[in-house]
Amino acid sequence: MKRKVQVGIIGTGPAGLLLAHLLKRAGIEALVLESRSREQIESTIRAGVLEQWTVDLLISLGLGERLKREAHFHDGITLRFGRGSHHLDFPELTGGKRVTVYAQHEVIKDLVAALPADMIQFGVKNVSLHGLDTDHPTIRTAEDEIDCDFIAGCDGFHGPSRQAIPANALKTYETVYPFGWLGILAEAPPSHHELIYARHERGFALLSTRSPEVQRLYIQCDPADDLANWSDDRIWNELHQRLETDEDWSLTEGPIFQKNIVAMRSFVCETMRWGRLFLAGDAAHIVPPTGAKGLNLAAADVVVLARALTRFYADGKEDLLDTYAATCLERIWRGERFSWYMTTLLHRNDAEEDFVRRIHMADLDYVVSSHAAQQALAENYVGLPMAF
Ligand code: FAD
Ligand code: PHB
Repeated sequence: MKRKVQVGIIGTGPAGLLLAHLLKRAGIEALVLESRSREQIESTIRAGVLEQWTVDLLISLGLGERLKREAHFHDGITLRFGRGSHHLDFPELTGGKRVTVYAQHEVIKDLVAALPADMIQFGVKNVSLHGLDTDHPTIRTAEDEIDCDFIAGCDGFHGPSRQAIPANALKTYETVYPFGWLGILAEAPPSHHELIYARHERGFALLSTRSPEVQRLYIQCDPADDLANWSDDRIWNELHQRLETDEDWSLTEGPIFQKNIVAMRSFVCETMRWGRLFLAGDAAHIVPPTGAKGLNLAAADVVVLARALTRFYADGKEDLLDTYAATCLERIWRGERFSWYMTTLLHRNDAEEDFVRRIHMADLDYVVSSHAAQQALAENYVGLPMAF
């Protein structure tokens, strides 16, 4: 079937769905195409931490009701190393900002529920992009041919959008880390009211949360490791060791009902625009999860894109479309820097020289003893200023 839409969006991650909402608010017609089912996208476990402006954006779009009731609002994080704990008080360090812990798939559910059903197609197969250097790019699927004015490639790192850009036009930067995260969900009450990031000789560990009954925890592992090697006992044993402290604190255990391993990379594709194709979110950039920035950077891209498209349809002006990549990349590179910093600071990397390991320890000591250093970490963690 042949169809026509102003903006064709590929992918129902946070980037694609938020863009659809922003365009709908601006009166621009959009259609979102997703290869997976609604059940799949609403149950994929990923991020947890939202920057304050991301929460404010969701609320301003009328999408924050459940979040306001069910999310956890955190006033800081704890850095743990050398058996000691060091709390960073975000409101004090940032002039009142805090972060929100609300699972990505809950955000996805809220965004999907609030879009008219005819704006999203799930289970779409064989998506391909054509005519990107013309005024009428087309998305072809197994069943449809969709003529668009613009295409938004919001299809994550492995999607077809970035791959539709000629290889010789792509400007990319990448570093791959020699470790991954084993993430678990456990039925256990919170061991702590905020997140704990731990650097330990045995490797990094992170204590996060999802609800009063469910805890989210991560441990550094080999990215090629097999989940079969990780019995529940082994996971708890590692967590106890890596989160050990001289304080009066203990880790609460409970049945583990979900496990996965993710590899870690930093990646930026600076070619975020190719003709009438605009890349946003993980399609254009990946950060390791240690800085909790991925979802928030995806949201920032589509705010910039929606503003540019709104101007185009209102005044016929392309200036904001022309500056889209440059505007986004400023924030992206800051997010990349911070995520790389948190990752190298907190993980054990056997490929590093002992000298570099000692530098990371000195860096941690500096962070916990200097108000200025804590401010620098906190202002990045809660999110750099973003107008929407
Ligand atoms: P995605 O969420 O990847 O969505 C892309 C969509 O496109 C998917 O639904 C996919 O099915 C679809 N798609 C792909 N190919 C096709 C195709 N051919 N046709 C149609 N559709 C297609 N970020 C944070 O901000 N805070 C955190 O605390 C945080 N923690 C994380 C923890 C972990 C363990 C991981 C893995 C990630 C974490 N992130 C975090 C990162 C965050 O999850 C991602 O950055 C975010 O999902 C990016 O959103 P996106 O919309 O760009 O892409
Ligand atoms: C999470 O709760 O999933 C989470 C929290 C903080 C991170 C990454 C993931 O840095």
